[in-house]
Amino acid sequence: MRYSDEIIEEVRARNDIVDVISPYVKLTRRGSSYFGLCPFHNEKTGSFSVSPGKQMYYCFGCGAGGNVITFLMQYENYTFQEALKVLAERAGVKLPEDVNSREAREEADRRSLLLEVNRLAAKYYVGKLRSPSGTRAMEYLRGRGLSDETILKFGLGYADRYSNDLYQFMKQKGYADDLLMDSGLFLFDEKRGPSDKFWNRVMYPIMDANSRVIGFGGRVMGDGKPKYLNSPETRIFDKSRNLYGLHAARRSRRKNLIICEGYMDVISMHQAGYTNAVASLGTALTSQQCSLLGRFTREVLVIYDMDDAGVRAALRAIPMLREAGLSAKVVDLRPHKDPDEFIRSKGTEAFEERLEKAENSFLFSVRMSERDFDLQDPQGKTDFLHETAARLADISDEIERNSYTEAIARRYRIDREVLTRQIGRQAMKGTGQRLRQQPRQASPPKMRRDSAEEKSQKLMLTWLTDMPELIPALRDYLSPSDFTTPLYREAAELIWAQAASGQVSPAAVINHFTDGEVQTKVAELFNTNMDLGSDEDRKKALTDILLRMKRNSLDAQAAALDPADMQGMLRLAEEKKKLEKLRETGLPTDLFA
Ligand code: UTP
Ligand code: MN
Repeated sequence: MRYSDEIIEEVRARNDIVDVISPYVKLTRRGSSYFGLCPFHNEKTGSFSVSPGKQMYYCFGCGAGGNVITFLMQYENYTFQEALKVLAERAGVKLPEDVNSREAREEADRRSLLLEVNRLAAKYYVGKLRSPSGTRAMEYLRGRGLSDETILKFGLGYADRYSNDLYQFMKQKGYADDLLMDSGLFLFDEKRGPSDKFWNRVMYPIMDANSRVIGFGGRVMGDGKPKYLNSPETRIFDKSRNLYGLHAARRSRRKNLIICEGYMDVISMHQAGYTNAVASLGTALTSQQCSLLGRFTREVLVIYDMDDAGVRAALRAIPMLREAGLSAKVVDLRPHKDPDEFIRSKGTEAFEERLEKAENSFLFSVRMSERDFDLQDPQGKTDFLHETAARLADISDEIERNSYTEAIARRYRIDREVLTRQIGRQAMKGTGQRLRQQPRQASPPKMRRDSAEEKSQKLMLTWLTDMPELIPALRDYLSPSDFTTPLYREAAELIWAQAASGQVSPAAVINHFTDGEVQTKVAELFNTNMDLGSDEDRKKALTDILLRMKRNSLDAQAAALDPADMQGMLRLAEEKKKLEKLRETGLPTDLFA
């Protein structure tokens, strides 16, 4: 059920974040914040900070951040409702009675009925595989090198050649049509009536991490099209939040997880002893799948086809894995296509060798970016090294950055000192202050760094929540509309509204955003690292950021202005003048008094 914003805010406000996090993370006080080892990624020095003032946590290493509610969601893997319930109980807040509990119960019942239908279907397909009509399917699977044990372990089955075989079976068991329709296992045609979706295919049940069947992939035996038919998404089958094989891989004793592309690859690897293999479900890897992986491991080996599409998929996956706090390595199986084919033709020992040779994902990305430049040409090589230096500047951990710098210097025969200086220069671009602290590699290579505008807007939001008194002090210069990035503007509007009512609370702002990834992004806005020393330095930095932001905002406004809008022109000219003056005189001296 949906609780009111007021009750959510009350629960949040009555649970002090330091008290809530302390049992999970050993915190020590440093200045106005507490620090400890981040529970969301592996680290040896504490970059996880908890701010009693802001009532937020934020990790400068992996970017995890939020308020008390998001902490429990991330740490305990609770849903929003679950986290809220636990915190309400802890603080003695009574949540309003579940007026919708009947609806909630019905939904739960519906889900468990769908799970039941899927489980029965899986059993049915397994039975068919072992019946006389399944002979050819069995031969197909054995022909692909699968042992009886493997076939059993993955619950492989066969969908017969009758058109509504499974449907009849389910009807006999008394399931209603609308439920069967929701299961995605049947087609309901107005003229021809109900029929089975899967027909004369080898069936791969897809299970969630708790071994419950949530859908199926069905493969033609041979070369027909489509090669695989998959269950559609249903109430219980969310392709972006599940991974094929995870129910088994989570119990593997191997130190990492392997992510690959295909059902058969997972099965082959498990049979060969690589019980840590999983695959996405016919779609590109999602950030939810990365977090799911993160619940079970810290290191992921990526094995994708090394053709163009596969490399692109890997380059997309790497930053997402990193964002989830996972370190990644890329395995190259060339000239073979996929793990199944590799293991079948080269055997496990050769496969193991390839795994050991897996390339660090950072170095892989750099190597792949070589393709965008002509390294034989001095200008091409220069451009390439500039881009590489920028990538290096993005690495937050100094030790890590140094060792990559060394590796890159060696690989591309460039003087290490020169490269280091270039990295420093790259890092200075944007905020004009110091090395950036957060690893930010979410978007594709060309776009993946925050633009200078975004950086200054983020820094500004951090300033304003650190020192809310700045909001009235900067009134003449700054308003939420100067934040040109929509999400930042939304956050700024909320902060301004809070300031007007007397109490700035970044942790409460988080509650306005429901999506977990967005919450993390917002948390980052209020926690951009800045460590600026003297008041004079701070004032200068703030002025720089303000000027940068204003310039950007005025440019955007000018671009959007109707040339006939004289009023608007005049206002902009006025603003520009004010900006010029600010540049000359700086902010009032008593700003930090
Ligand atoms: P592949 O074409 O690499 O198939 O697709 P595969 O897994 O190696 O299977 P075999 O070895 O040919 O039997 C990789 C994955 O992409 C999805 C499936 O999840 C598959 O495992 N896929 C592929 C589909 O969903 N539909 C298709 O038609 C093809
Ligand atoms: Mn294959």
